[in-house]
Amino acid sequence: MFDVECRMMDVSGLRQRRGLRLRGASNKTKLVTDHRTFRIGVLGSGAGSNFAAIADACAAGTIPAQIALVLSDVAEAGILEKARARKLQAQFIAPGKFRTKLDETAEAAFVQVLREAKADLIVLAGFMRVLKGEFLRAFEGRIVNIHPSLLPSFPGLEAWKQALDHGVRVTGCTVHFVDAGVDSGPIIGQQTVPVLDDDMPETLHQRIHKAEHELYPSCVAAIARGDISISGRRVIWKK
Ligand code: GRF
Repeated sequence: MFDVECRMMDVSGLRQRRGLRLRGASNKTKLVTDHRTFRIGVLGSGAGSNFAAIADACAAGTIPAQIALVLSDVAEAGILEKARARKLQAQFIAPGKFRTKLDETAEAAFVQVLREAKADLIVLAGFMRVLKGEFLRAFEGRIVNIHPSLLPSFPGLEAWKQALDHGVRVTGCTVHFVDAGVDSGPIIGQQTVPVLDDDMPETLHQRIHKAEHELYPSCVAAIARGDISISGRRVIWKK
């Protein structure tokens, strides 16, 4: 999905996309910036604690953005409840016949509502389905995810348990752009979490979760501010 041949992608280009071309009395075309807020579409299947951290940071102004829409493939997901409690637009879309991905109809429905909501950035917050072709093409370079390990170690399910079973002394969480692979896109930010001698999967998972609630809002804020660019696989933060 990314042009890996060292193309520089300036995420602040997201802002330029919102520029309006207006014709003045002199018949010259000038670019007038549309100052509407950066809009985030969130997808999740579970409790939605990462969503809550991001939504609260938007409300507090720490992230210069607004949540445009929250979508879930699980009708009773906590994330939808948390969104509605915050008076945000929240919608369940049936995922279709597959277990680990959206079927074609569902994928088209997700893309359509996110386009209608004019989402600038798609934030995956515990969304348990792999996104495929049409979705990735529709929002190329504008989808981010959080994963509960220091990628590229321990991609896939129950990453905290994988880390514990492997015996690493340090694990953590990673925010990354989403590409066609599983947990494989360019890394935006990482936060470490030590593994303690008496850790059980749940205790380690809880501490990683806590770190996620700091890391994810800070990465989303940097993207919304246009402070992040990509060179090949490397994500560069503006100083
Ligand atoms: C988090 O652990 C995240 O790393 C993973 O899914 C979980 C979502 O948790 N991708 P929550 O729904 O945000 O509480």
